[in-house]
Amino acid sequence: MSKTLVIGASGQLGIELVLALQAKHGVGSVHLADIRVPENEQVLKSHFLHLDATDEETMAKVLEEGRYVEVYQLAAMLSATSEKKPLAAWDLNMKSLLNVLEAGREGWIERVFWPSSIAVFGPGTPKKNVPQDALLDPSTVYGISKQSGEYWCRYYHEKFGVDVRSLRYPGLIGHRSNPGGGTTDYAVEIYDFAVQDLPYSCFLKADQALPMMFMDDAVRGTLELMAAPSDSIRVRTSYNFSGMSFSPAEVGESIRQHLPEFELEYAPDHRQEIASSWPESIDDIAAIHDWAWESRIDLSEMTKVMLEACRAKTIHTTS
Ligand code: SER
Repeated sequence: MSKTLVIGASGQLGIELVLALQAKHGVGSVHLADIRVPENEQVLKSHFLHLDATDEETMAKVLEEGRYVEVYQLAAMLSATSEKKPLAAWDLNMKSLLNVLEAGREGWIERVFWPSSIAVFGPGTPKKNVPQDALLDPSTVYGISKQSGEYWCRYYHEKFGVDVRSLRYPGLIGHRSNPGGGTTDYAVEIYDFAVQDLPYSCFLKADQALPMMFMDDAVRGTLELMAAPSDSIRVRTSYNFSGMSFSPAEVGESIRQHLPEFELEYAPDHRQEIASSWPESIDDIAAIHDWAWESRIDLSEMTKVMLEACRAKTIHTTS
């Protein structure tokens, strides 16, 4: 029986990954950990541990006793919140990772997953089709923590043989959980506003294109990466991982294909500066080559699914 632990299980990605892992391995084979209880009934059918991922002693105890085959370490502070609390972000993002890597070094875990981000790229990186080995030039605290994390992952793999795998996620868009504190969060909120016939005021400018991905693609890709044979994983920092690229104006246009009256305004705030430092699109040929990654869902398909799902949620919560 495969036993899996998801740390940071209450977050946007955590909830979605837990649902997919439950479907794959069974509810009893998945354990969850977070400092807050996940707001999802199905997710809570798995065993929940109240756990602070920065607490070295408790993490060591849980990971030694748990003998998990796979640990997904997702606890992190995202880009916009990290700019407001830089030292707290560094503390959380680094300690949580190092606690898990240490457990890997001790031999208590077989495989580790840790998410990196497009935030490792910055002003010195090319804007379009960023290659796998492009200059990392993060200008945010979040990006600096992800860049450092990537090198810690490679270090633990090379020095201690820890089988740690990672993806540089673009903005993730799904309907089963909410994001929080990120620069790409607008691309989830916009659908919730649209189905309620509310105008949406976007905190990024109209033509700020960014790399994005539909959650179902992201979760499938993550599970495929973790299922690949270890010797096929040739990138031990983190893989470029690409789905689509669009701007707020483009997602607004794709919503108007279904809801012609949808109104979109722009009021860029502090998050615009973060977005401007990131690339528009990513080249993920290394992931395609090494473990057969294939993105399947484009903007128009995603808009269709998001509008249907958000509409169903609105009906459910108002009835
Ligand atoms: N979605 C993340 C953020 O906006 C990027 O990794 O912070």
